[in-house]
This record gives sequence, structure tokens and C-alpha cells, in this order.
Amino acid sequence: MSGFPIDKFNNLQTPFYYYDVDLLRATLRTVKECADAYDLHIHYAVKANANPRILAIVKEYGLGVDCVSGGEIKAAADVGFAGSDIMFAGVGKTDDEIRLALETGIRCFNVESLPELLNINEIAAQTNNMTHIAVRINPNIDAHTHQYITTGLNENKFGINLENLGEFVSTALSLPNIDLCGLHYHIGSQIRDLEPFEQLCDKVNDTLAYIESLGAQITIIDVGGGLGINYDDPDSEPIVDFKKYFEIFARNIKRRPDQQLHFEPGRSIVAQSGSLITRVLYVKEGTAKKFVIVDAGMTDLIRPALYQAHHKIENISSHSSVDDKYDVVGPICESSDCFGTDERLPLTGRGDFIALRSAGAYGEVMASQYNCRRLPGSILSTELL
Ligand code: LLP
Repeated sequence: MSGFPIDKFNNLQTPFYYYDVDLLRATLRTVKECADAYDLHIHYAVKANANPRILAIVKEYGLGVDCVSGGEIKAAADVGFAGSDIMFAGVGKTDDEIRLALETGIRCFNVESLPELLNINEIAAQTNNMTHIAVRINPNIDAHTHQYITTGLNENKFGINLENLGEFVSTALSLPNIDLCGLHYHIGSQIRDLEPFEQLCDKVNDTLAYIESLGAQITIIDVGGGLGINYDDPDSEPIVDFKKYFEIFARNIKRRPDQQLHFEPGRSIVAQSGSLITRVLYVKEGTAKKFVIVDAGMTDLIRPALYQAHHKIENISSHSSVDDKYDVVGPICESSDCFGTDERLPLTGRGDFIALRSAGAYGEVMASQYNCRRLPGSILSTELL
């Protein structure tokens, strides 16, 4: 991969996230065009990357946002998203967050339990608000993804199970400060095989018919996010096939003209445009292995340690035609602080820049300060011109 302005990296403190703005913009353009073709509404999932400069670019393309905390609502409002562009989801909304959302005039709460519904009604009554809500339904679909990022099965903590839906809907319809106007689903993340999305469409059609038979008037059908990206070979697929993905829903969901179809993609929008740039501190010869010790660790990119995820590793400094096999590890005092084992890299030495690719989603935003480390910095390609 030659697209990195390495000469400009020399003055920057590593590790840092580098965002390719051209790719981010190209991705957003594609999303917008494909969505418009089918009259779909896109709310970017802020949890994937809440960097204010990234959020500001997302906003330029007319997308809304999906937020899961008061902090995310503030981050979105700070870059200029209007309340009416914000959906608010999450299983554990605090009273303060609910008040903040009401003050911000958000579009809709995605509600995940009966006690939460009652609490939102009570707080909305105190402030004389009529509140739009969507019920998050757990459709019991196996998304065939990592166990920590599958969400649509009955044993997950998310959403209302189908057998409890009737009670939830009749309660919602009886509450004076609640307007139940939406259905919400999300079956998991990093879903590469699109078949579970087809199953989801069938479930949506069934539940929509059922919930309408109970007297609810549904105007928002929100099918969540989850579209996966190519981590193994990012350059072969820098932008995922949004058209194919959207088409599945546009074709299969039986919606009326007054019903909006909403999506909440996170990863598929921002992942490929970000890389974590780190420097080699030492190359250490073990008995049977060679270790490349870099200055980024699991505190900067936790996905490998947490989900056994693999981000493509590239030595972007070395031009050696000879390669070798290395374990690429960070400096943190944990054995799981490892980015790759037996990685084939060109001969690597102290001071080389290493890029951990496809790290624009759930990278910077999940960084921590374990070991009293500083948080990674970030830079946009446009800031280096
Ligand atoms: N909507 C809801 C309700 C969600 O829970 C999520 C992600 C999304 C939308 C966005 O999903 P996406 O399009 O990004 O797949 N930290 C994990 C991923 C956790 C995803 C949580 N929910 C990772 O690094 O793989």
C-alpha cells in the first residue's frame, strides 16, 4: 500500500489514527446515492467513530445519527446535527440522558424494555413532552458473527422478545406521553454473509403486520446496522457493496409509502478510511520467533485482544525485497496485546512505520488509558496536504 504520506508522518507522535478523507467522502457519496435510489434514511452509528472531524464530514452528506448515550447526543449536537436527525438507542438509558434527549428534541427513542418505557413516559410527562418511540425487537436471528457482536438472539440482553411484544405494545398505546411510531431491529455487527438480512426482512414483515393488528401506526422501520467489511484485503474492497445490501431490504420489506425505512450503519462507513499508524520500537529475536514490538498497544486498538480480530498489518517504510515472519506485539503488560502472529513482512527494523489497516471503526473510539498511557492522536489526510 503506497497511499500513505510517510514523509509527513516523521514529525508526528506515534501512535496515531490516520484518516483518508478522500475514501471517507467516496464512501459517504456511495451510501447517499444508493440510499436515495431506494428512498432510504441513513443514521450513522456514532459509536463506530465519534471523532468530531469525522462526524462533521458525515454531516455534510445529509445523514442523521444513531446515538447510544448522552455523550454521543452531545457530540452530535456539537457538530451541528439537529435534534430531529438523532435517534437514541441503548438498553440502559439514565434519567439524565432521557431528559437531555427530550431537551434536544430527538427524533425517536429506541426502547428496549417495559420498565424503560414506563420511565420515559414519566419523565416526558414531567416536561409535558409527547415522545416518539420505536420498540426494539429481538428477532431471534443468528447473524453468524463473533459471539460478542451478535445481538439478535433470544439470550442477548437487547430488545423485546417476540413473546413479550404484545404486552409492550398495548402498554405503549395506553401511555399518554408516548407515541409508538417505530419498529427497531439490529441483529449484530461485521455481518459479511447477507443471508441473515433476508431472514430479518421476513421477521420485519411478520411483526409489522402483528403490531399493526394491535392498533399501532408505524411510520419508521429501522433495521439497524451490521454490514461487514473486508479486513483481510481492504484494498480490494475499499467500499462495500451498499447497493446489494440496501436492495435486499428495499425489495423484501413490505412498507407503505408513508413508512420510512431506516438504517444505522457504523463500521461500513468509517472502517476502511482509518489506519492506526505505529512505529517499531524494537525487533527482538526469541528462540523460535521474531517479535516486532511497536509503540501501539491494545489500549490504542483493542479489537484484536477483545474479539480475536485481525487488522491487516503493513510495514509502510521498508522497501526490502526480502521478507521474514514476525509476531507483531504492543508494549502493554498483557499477553493478549498482540496484533498478529507469524506475519509476513518485509525485513523490519527499529523506527519503521507500521499501518494497522481498516481501523476507522471501533478503533480510536475504544481506546483506553490502561497503564497510564496517553490516548492515541488522530490526523486527517487533508490536514497533511
Ligand atoms: N445499531 C445498533 C443498535 C448497534 O448496536 C450497532 C452496533 C450499530 C447500529 C452499528 O453497527 P455496525 O454497522 O457498525 O456494525 N466494537 C465492536 C462492534 C460493536 C457493535 C455494536 N453495535 C467491534 O469492534 O467489532
